[in-house]
Parts: sequence; structure tokens; C-alpha cells
Amino acid sequence: MLDFSFYSPTEFVFGKGRESECGELVKKYGGSKVLIHFGGGSAVKSGLIDRVKASLEKSGVPFCELGGVQPNPRDTLVYKGIELAKSEGVDFILAVGGGSVIDSAKAIAAGTLYDGDFWDFYSGKAAIEKALPIGVVLTIAAAGSEGSGNSVITKEDGMLKRGTGSDLLRSRFSVLNPALTQTLPAYQTACGATDIMAHVFERYFTNTTEVEITDRLCEAVLLTMVKETPRVIADPDNYEARANIMWAGMVAHNNIVGVGREQDWNSHGLEHELSGLYDVAHGAGLAVIMPAWMEYVHNHNVMRFCQMATRIFGCSMDFEDPEATALEGIKRFRAFLKSIGMPINFAELGAKEEDIPILIEKLGIGDGKRAGFMELDRNDVEGIYKLAVKASL
Ligand code: NZQ
Ligand code: ZN
Repeated sequence: MLDFSFYSPTEFVFGKGRESECGELVKKYGGSKVLIHFGGGSAVKSGLIDRVKASLEKSGVPFCELGGVQPNPRDTLVYKGIELAKSEGVDFILAVGGGSVIDSAKAIAAGTLYDGDFWDFYSGKAAIEKALPIGVVLTIAAAGSEGSGNSVITKEDGMLKRGTGSDLLRSRFSVLNPALTQTLPAYQTACGATDIMAHVFERYFTNTTEVEITDRLCEAVLLTMVKETPRVIADPDNYEARANIMWAGMVAHNNIVGVGREQDWNSHGLEHELSGLYDVAHGAGLAVIMPAWMEYVHNHNVMRFCQMATRIFGCSMDFEDPEATALEGIKRFRAFLKSIGMPINFAELGAKEEDIPILIEKLGIGDGKRAGFMELDRNDVEGIYKLAVKASL
């Protein structure tokens, strides 16, 4: 196991109706003027925004609001949010929504206290040194942004999707009410489940040895997702299954399952170019890319794939032909994704083979290599995209 520091300062407030505690939570963490940030409509339609406002009013916390965050959140709205936060003297950002809303809130939080262009944090030009505190009311189990220090924003000019990270972006509190996720369309639920599993796999496929504890934690999350996702797809109002998935989404990405081990993140890197270029859901892009990445790299450490196949997907170990076991595990993962309604190849996602050179160009790999479980050069990246083009069951 590698040395590590683990910092997760967020207070998680879990359960039915707990968004009513928002006002007191904001006060507890020092907010005296709040910007409520939300998405394209679901949180307004469900009455959640009104409940959040009522809670703030009850606690005597003034607020202003900015809705309209799109999936794959755009820089253009972040600029508006920064302007509004400055002009209104906001000292706390409250994100009510999913990963897109939370990531946009994080960008506003850092950008408001920065003299330059907030995009500097995403282009790698500057590191975040200050940020306003944020709080979260989560409405979809997926990105894990409610527990992570990351934010991913898309620059509308060129649809360039880039991420940044800092412990300063970690939420002060995150309200997790599983009942809020019951209004999600099945497709979004499945996209979220795929993202949660991908966050674990990015950590599971490691070159670090002697990591039994985090291997087993990863497997616990993956087995939970394999069991609970079909239950909520079949029965969207199943609160208990939703609750397990919601907590799994947090555990998958606040890094408790990834500490002390090298991680990969190449499936995410390759996927961000897809959701950036085609404006598709991140989870759907991952369903297409991740099994293809697995197929491409499995011989780098075939026994690790056998571990996945036997422990997560119930394959029998073929000791004479370990590769057959590894490939069977990958096949079952892809079949699982298909069974919950995910696309599994370029055509189903709406992506085009002829765009592969553009995807590689946007990835900016040049003649270099991407670090990870297996180092990838541009030929490898092309190979993975090509496997994703043709994938079938
Ligand atoms: O805008 P509304 O109307 O709310 O609709 C949203 C949106 O269309 C809808 N939705 C959310 N909660 C709902 C609901 N509809 C009905 N009922 C509810 N309760 O779902 C759609 C997707 O929402 P979005 O926030 O985009 O989903 P998700 O949480 O998957 O976030 C995706 C974004 O997070 C980034 C992704 O790249 C993508 O941009 N990621 C962020 C990470 C992080 N910050 O740590 C890590 C991830 O790997 C990921 O990259
Ligand atoms: Zn993700």
C-alpha cells in the first residue's frame, strides 16, 4: 500500500425530508448570504427548490438564485454565477441538483474569489487557492461530486470538457435524501449507476499490490450496484434500493476506496471527449468506453481481471486459460450495462467512427503517453475507441 492522506471534511446528512435542515446547515457553516444554484427544471417541478427556500427563510438566511445548469455544465453560466455572487455579496453557494449543478457551483465558488478567468483552474494555468464554501442537496446518485473535491466544466467555445480538483472545493455539507431520486427517468438512473461503477473500476485496476482492504471495499460497492441497480430500474420507487445506491455513489468517489493505490482514470479521460463532443450523458459514454478499455488492457494484468470476473460477475476461474475468464468477466459487465438500458457502442451513443481523430486531437495526447494502469499512447487510444465502435454482446 502507498502512503496517503485522506481528507473528507463534508457532513453527510442522509434520509427522508432532510433538505428541510438546509437553512440551519448553511448557518452552521458560516453562510449569511446564499446563492441557490440549480438545473434545468426537475428541482423546481418537484417543489424541492421551494422547500429549500422555505428552510433558508425559516433560518433567516437571505438568498438569491441562479437556475439553468445544463448537463455537461457550461462555462457561460459559471461566468454569470460569478458576477451574481459578487454583485449580491454572496458568501455561500448552495447547489441543488446533480453532478452538473454541483460542479458549476464549485466553479463559481472558486471563481468568485479569483482575480483572473476561472477557466485558468480548468486549463491548468492556475491552482485554486481560495473558494467560497459550498453546500449540496443531491438529486441524483452518479458523479459523486457531493463528496469529491473535483469539478468538470465544458467550455462552450469548442465544447472542451476539462476538470480541476482541490480540497477547497469539497462541500461543507451534503444532504442525501434518496427519495429525491425517485423522479429520475430510468435512463438517468442507469447513467448514474454506470458512473458509480466506473469510479470504482478506475481505482480497482491498479499496479499497487497488497491493497486487500481497498480491493474489498471496491468489491462491496460494485456488488451493491450489481444487485441494487436492476431493482430500481424495475421499481423506481424502491426507497431502500435508492438509499443503497445513493450512499454507494458517495463512497465510490470520495476516495475512501482508492487511497493507498495507483489509480487509472483513462476511461474517464477518453469519455470526457465523447460527452464534450456529442453532449451526451457522462455515464452513457462510460458504458461505451469502459468495457472497451478493459478489453484493450486486460493482458496487462490478466489475473486482476480474473479477480473482477470471479468476485463481481460470478465467473468460474479457468486455471488453464485465465484470459478466457478475464474476457468472460468483461463480457458480463457489458451485458449488465446493456440490461439496465445503457448504450454499448458508438452507434448506440450517437458517436461516429470518423470522428475518432477529432477525439484524439481534443484529448491532447500528442506524441506523449497517458499514465495509468497501462500507459497509453495515441495508437492505444485509437485502439480503444475502435473497440468501442464495434462493441456488441
Ligand atoms: O437539469 P434537471 O432538470 O435537474 O435535469 C437533470 C439532468 O437532465 C436530471 N435530474 C437530476 N436529478 C433529477 C433529475 N431528473 C429528475 N429527477 C431528479 N431527481 O438528470 C440529468 C443529469 O443531471 P447531471 O447533474 O448532469 O448528472 P450527473 O450527476 O451524472 O452529473 C454529470 C456531470 O458530472 C461530471 C460529468 O462529467 C458530468 O458533467 N462528473 C463530475 C465528477 C466530480 N465532480 O467529481 C466526477 C464524474 O466522474 C463526472 O465526470
Ligand atoms: Zn464519472
